[in-house]
Amino acid sequence: MSLIDCKLIDLPKINDPRGNLTFIEGGRHVPFDIKRVFYLYDVPGGADRGGHALKKCHQFLIAMSGSFDVILYDGKEKQRIQLNRSYHGLIIPPMIWREMDNFSSGSVCLALASAVYDAGDYYRDYNEYLTALAVSRPGK
Ligand code: TYD
Repeated sequence: MSLIDCKLIDLPKINDPRGNLTFIEGGRHVPFDIKRVFYLYDVPGGADRGGHALKKCHQFLIAMSGSFDVILYDGKEKQRIQLNRSYHGLIIPPMIWREMDNFSSGSVCLALASAVYDAGDYYRDYNEYLTALAVSRPGK
């Protein structure tokens, strides 16, 4: 997987003077069946999250409230993306190193995942991740 596979998706937005509404359907707006939902909240100013790559799990991140930055790295290229709309989602496929920072006060990050939590699916060590990439993509 490379950064090209990390896509920003426009979710449906039903504008309404009573308050806007966005919905997400697994397999339609998100290219996987949703097996898990988790969210980050009460993130203190200056905190960093992430700092890992997943071996098999696909994720889809949304800034439900406020904003934060996601830094993506595929072993070759690095990209910083700010998520700041409740109707934008970022697809992160497996084997992409991600870090998150610059959380605004009161921000909430919703994550949809293709698998239930499995500590064994994580690369938390950056060098271990780079070694795994080199094995899976020799010569790149
Ligand atoms: P972690 O994925 O390390 O957070 P970060 O986004 O900062 O890398 O998760 C933090 C802790 O929460 C870790 O001990 C694992 C636990 N956890 C679960 O038990 N279930 C989950 O679905 C997730 C995402 C984390």
